[in-house]
Amino acid sequence: MDDQSKILIISDVHGNAEALRAVMNAEDDADHVVFLGDAFVSGPQPIETAELLEKLDADVSIMGNHDKEVLDTSLFAHWPEGWIAFNEWIIGSLGKDVVDRVRAFKPAGEYRVGGISMYLHHGELEKEMPSPLPDSPAESFLAMGSENRCPLVLFGHTHVQFTRTIGEKTYINPGSVGQPRCGRLHACYGVFESGLYFPRKVTYDPRPWIEALESLEVLERRPSMRQWLKTALLSGYGIGEKEPWTRYHSQGYA
Ligand SMILES: [Fe+2]
Ligand SMILES: [Fe+2]
Repeated sequence: MDDQSKILIISDVHGNAEALRAVMNAEDDADHVVFLGDAFVSGPQPIETAELLEKLDADVSIMGNHDKEVLDTSLFAHWPEGWIAFNEWIIGSLGKDVVDRVRAFKPAGEYRVGGISMYLHHGELEKEMPSPLPDSPAESFLAMGSENRCPLVLFGHTHVQFTRTIGEKTYINPGSVGQPRCGRLHACYGVFESGLYFPRKVTYDPRPWIEALESLEVLERRPSMRQWLKTALLSGYGIGEKEPWTRYHSQGYA
C-alpha cells in the first residue's frame, strides 16, 4: 500500500456542479479519485458537471443507473412527462465526447486504486432486494460482490453516508455529493488517507444551482416541478421529506 496517497471517494453528483466544485476545492490534494456513479441525471448543471468530472479525471468511474439512462433513453420512458423532458434536455446538453466517457464507465468489480484493493459497486440491487441503507438486512450488503473476497466494498446510490461491517467485510457509502436525502444541505464524500477511511462533508452556496434551474426553458411550463426540485435541494430531502429519510435525519445521518 502507498501510505502517502490520498484517495477521494465521490458518488451521486446528479448534475450539481456547485456541490462537486466544493468537494474538489476542499480536497484539491487528492492523488486518486473513485467515482461510484450517477453523474448528470437529473440536475440542472450538466455541462458544468461534465467539465468538473473531466478535470477530476477519476481513476475509476462506476456505471450508475442514471448513467445508463444517458446511453439509453428508453430506461426513463415510463417516467412522468416533465421528467422525460428534463432528462432529454440534460442528455441533449452533453457533447458526444461526454457521452462517450459515460459509455466507458466501468461495471461493478474489484479495482486497485492508490495501492488499495476495493470492490466498487454503484449500489443498485435487484428489485426484490431492499436497497443497502443503514438499517437494511445484511443480505442487501452481501449481494454486492458476493463472489469477491475483497474486504472493502464501496458503493453509492442510496445517498446516505454510512459504514457497516458484516463479517470480514466493511461496506462504505460516502453519501451523495449533489443530492442529499437526509434533510441537510451539504455535499457528502469520503477520503482514504494513509490507508484509513474518513467520511466528510462540505457546505456550498446553492444559489448558482437554483439560478440554473430557474433559467431552464424546459421547466418554464412546469412551475410545480421546478418548485419541487428547488425545495428538494434546499431542504436536503432530495426525494421528499418522508420515511425513511426523516428517520435517518433524526438519527443524525447525512
Ligand atoms: Fe443517485
Ligand atoms: Fe443510483
